[in-house]
Amino acid sequence: MTALPAPTALSTAAVSVLSKNWAGSHTLPASGLYPHQWSWDSGFIALGLRHVEPDRAQQELESILSGQWDDGRLPQIIYDVSRDDDYSPGASFWRSTDLPAAPVVPTTGLIQPPNHAWAAWEVHRTNPAASERNDFLPRVYPRLVAWHEYLATRRNRGGRGLASVIHPWESGMDNSPLWDEALARIPDTPQHTIRRPDLLHADAGERPSTKEYGRYFWLAEQYRDHGCDDLGGKDSFVLEDPTFNALWAQSELALALIAAALGKDDSGHLARAQTLTDALEHLYDDDLGLYVARDVTTGALVRKPTISGIIPLILPGLAHAEAVLATLMGPGFLAAAPHMVPSYDLRAPDFEPAQYWRGPAWFNMTWLVIFGLRVQGAHSAEADRLAANLQSLALEHGFPEYVDPLTGAPHGTRNFSWTAALALDLLHRSV
Ligand code: SER
Repeated sequence: MTALPAPTALSTAAVSVLSKNWAGSHTLPASGLYPHQWSWDSGFIALGLRHVEPDRAQQELESILSGQWDDGRLPQIIYDVSRDDDYSPGASFWRSTDLPAAPVVPTTGLIQPPNHAWAAWEVHRTNPAASERNDFLPRVYPRLVAWHEYLATRRNRGGRGLASVIHPWESGMDNSPLWDEALARIPDTPQHTIRRPDLLHADAGERPSTKEYGRYFWLAEQYRDHGCDDLGGKDSFVLEDPTFNALWAQSELALALIAAALGKDDSGHLARAQTLTDALEHLYDDDLGLYVARDVTTGALVRKPTISGIIPLILPGLAHAEAVLATLMGPGFLAAAPHMVPSYDLRAPDFEPAQYWRGPAWFNMTWLVIFGLRVQGAHSAEADRLAANLQSLALEHGFPEYVDPLTGAPHGTRNFSWTAALALDLLHRSV
């Protein structure tokens, strides 16, 4: 097992990253590469902050909820207009405040995976006194319910209860191999001139390509130009993703706990968590031994072995947990990757150890796998080993965005907030 770093060194360094990235009401994922507030980043950041700054953990989630639209959606990004030139596409691309359903703060029209209710429950559970002092649960519960209703009513595009993403950015795993086939049908010629301020902060070889950006912008323009309307049936990219839906189910379980803590009826949260867990079985691929995406436009499964298909292990009662555990422990993932869990099967011909979501090991994904191993009551020594590796690599390399799963070499940006937050979380759970 990799030696655990000294608790005080890790804690001091991680807290310092989170403090430097604190922007007054929320935490920037990274002050150069990602200079606004990102939705699922805030969920992961709150999971770490809860141990050291409970009020700030609450504020982090309240801040992202302040970007909620009238239809319940929680946007992928809330923009800081003073940094609009530093990230593209920015607030001036989306012009969200022109839309009657959008909030007063400028946001994207897109969404990100729903880890917020889960984070809110953990923030409360870790420090109930701080939560009660601020009426945290009564304040956030109705907004979290509305967020999940948005997913159920506007994003059930495939008709089986699962939410669809309508843009790769919505999955949080932008250039995952899961999206290649569907993206190949999308023009790479948007109206907008593509700027790449991201390349000032990360190597071009570690980021999505310009061709991929062309398609990202084209899709974003299509959604924007029909008013970010989910009911018009105009989207060209519609996919069901396993991790997105597993996080939704996990967050539904958390809403059931929040409802109980507030003395309310369950309101169907447990039933929906079960329905989602069952519906995930439509995405199971027997040959690969994991879950895959489904392209709603063609009806076909996208048979690519990615980390997204392993994350459903976070759900209790997952029908194919045994088979997914075997895949995780096998030669495509942990048997051959000593450091953290790769984002793509190491044996895939197009596996790339340093290219964003096409191979590198991400700290949030490894954190979710550790959680999943614990939920399944399986491979506890492996979970401990991964937790130690995650903390060591985070500290040793200055909290990188992701690492090469074969060597542990750091990639992407540094001082990345969720890396610091999740290392801090593991530290607090192991002491
Ligand atoms: N991951 C996206 C980016 O790299 C944002 O969600 O810009």
